[in-house]
Amino acid sequence: MWDAETYDAVSSIQEAWGRKVVEWRIWRGSETVMDAGCGTGRLTKLLAQKVPAGTVYAVDIDHNMIKVAARNLKDAGNVKFIESDISTASLPTKVDVIFSNAAIHWILDHRKLFENFWQLLDDKGEIMIQCGGHGNLEKIISILDEIRKRDEFKPFFTSWRESWYFAKPQDTSRLLQDIGFKSVNAHLMEDSATFADRNSFALFAKTVVLKPYLALLPDQQKDRFLKLFLDEIETRHKSMCWVMDYVRLNIRAIK
Ligand SMILES: C[S@@+](CC[C@H](N)C(=O)[O-])C[C@H]1O[C@@H](n2cnc3c(N)ncnc32)[C@H](O)[C@@H]1O
Repeated sequence: MWDAETYDAVSSIQEAWGRKVVEWRIWRGSETVMDAGCGTGRLTKLLAQKVPAGTVYAVDIDHNMIKVAARNLKDAGNVKFIESDISTASLPTKVDVIFSNAAIHWILDHRKLFENFWQLLDDKGEIMIQCGGHGNLEKIISILDEIRKRDEFKPFFTSWRESWYFAKPQDTSRLLQDIGFKSVNAHLMEDSATFADRNSFALFAKTVVLKPYLALLPDQQKDRFLKLFLDEIETRHKSMCWVMDYVRLNIRAIK
């Protein structure tokens, strides 16, 4: 489960990425849209404003996220919230646009996901997606993995498996074309984020990037893991103070 309240407070980086994706399209204002992995709805709100005569289905698998999103958008009349896995979700109607920001790299089986998106889209419907792409957080993850493998943490990570799939653009393009999508465009974009200080970096890291690691640790170990990670950056990886080495994968295609 996500700490949705904190995510809502710290996710201005994700919102800034998503705002640019929303602008890829010239909106008619009457589209039916799915916000796939909507989180707390900061971008759903923008989508709802883009389609005043349309509908936005805001879909997320996490109960806390959907709850906060529904609260944040209680006054938006054209948004419907659905708590579901976007790889298997069904919607009341076909959609013209599937938008997704900072979400689908949390899903390992992209064939299943995109095949579901194909089913959900109306003819000539469009996908507009940004997610973590190949090379995303490479430096940060190598520091985290080095700490995870230390003797004191090893016992907690026996069930560890990668939580993310950071696809290569050529693999995503091939997959989408194979499913039948046209006008496929997938490309990487380096977009590191720098934080003002250790504390703001720590809160963000704890809420987003360290989530899969901390989920496997007991409470006292969580704080220690985070502290060691921050100390490691401050002492041995000074060039990473306080940087998330983000690489984004932009994906656009038509059914
Ligand atoms: C980093 S948040 C991004 C939220 C929002 N799109 C934004 O840009 O702020 C990732 C979101 O993807 C959701 N998510 C991950 N896997 C999912 C799945 N299989 N089905 C639906 N939502 C999923 C998470 O619950 C979380 O809300």
